[in-house]
Amino acid sequence: MKTCRPRAKQVSVIVFSLPESTFSTVHPERSRGTVLFLGPVPTQRLPRGVLLAFEGIDGSGKSTQAKKFVAWAQSIGLDVVSSREPTDGPWGKKIRDARFTARMSPEDELAAFIADRKEHVATLIKPALERGALVVIDRYYYSTVAYQGARGLDPAALLQKNRAFAPVPDLVVLVDVEPKAALERIATRGQGTDLFENLATLTKVRELFLSLVDAHVALIDGARAPEVVFGDVLLRVLSGPLAGFVGESDELQPVAKLFENDRLTPAQKAERIRQVLKVG
Ligand code: ADP
Ligand code: TYD
Repeated sequence: MKTCRPRAKQVSVIVFSLPESTFSTVHPERSRGTVLFLGPVPTQRLPRGVLLAFEGIDGSGKSTQAKKFVAWAQSIGLDVVSSREPTDGPWGKKIRDARFTARMSPEDELAAFIADRKEHVATLIKPALERGALVVIDRYYYSTVAYQGARGLDPAALLQKNRAFAPVPDLVVLVDVEPKAALERIATRGQGTDLFENLATLTKVRELFLSLVDAHVALIDGARAPEVVFGDVLLRVLSGPLAGFVGESDELQPVAKLFENDRLTPAQKAERIRQVLKVG
């Protein structure tokens, strides 16, 4: 009798056809077991790993800003690892699947987000930081405090539970918009709303995000055009956690000079940075 044996798990490698000089390194962290991601060859090194988290209510435009920042950082040759939460791992999938169907209890939802983050920290965030990469994550534990806090769990306890295992970001970019505007954007995005997104919930979530603003959190007005918001993002990151790198980089000397100019307001600096770096 013929026996059917389970087939070995297949590993697929996607190779993009791009000029060799531009892309050639494999970022193993992005492999997630099935697909290897080919990114630009890093040519610039940071003195140590830097962790940036982009946060905000749904529709705030934080993913747009995180993507713009990652593209810019890669374009100047930095070793960038970009990721998001919930992740694409098993816990992240479970969380996403539950969003459009039966909502988990606050406690079960919290347990799922924590399990997902523990895996993310151990397998991607910590190893990348240890090798000196710039790690950019779209959502992190500030989202747990804001969203699970909005479902009635204690925000202080949520913060403590996360800080027990998750590295504190060097900077959190908190993109802030009115919930009504955010919901209008989501409607335009055309993916429909889910159980996380309604006016009362987003208002509470926003309040909790704002309660977390401290020296590690850059509060950015996300109501303006995406490119204007991006000027602020660059200003806060380049004058904050990447200030040392900017000071040492020949290419970024015009930006370092801008930071020394006391006559310019922060808004003028943000505008000038975009001009100097030629980013839209
Ligand atoms: P989030 O990640 O915060 O949910 P996205 O970055 O996905 O938000 O943006 C939500 C929608 O709003 C998208 O359709 C995007 O193109 C649009 N958008 C993003 N930033 C802005 C902005 N500053 N002004 C207007 N629309 C924006
Ligand atoms: P998703 O569509 O993946 O991301 P986004 O809205 O950022 O484009 O949705 C993730 C949802 O999960 C979002 O509504 C926020 C929520 N969330 C939590 O409730 N707790 C958390 O810890 C995280 C990371 C996300």
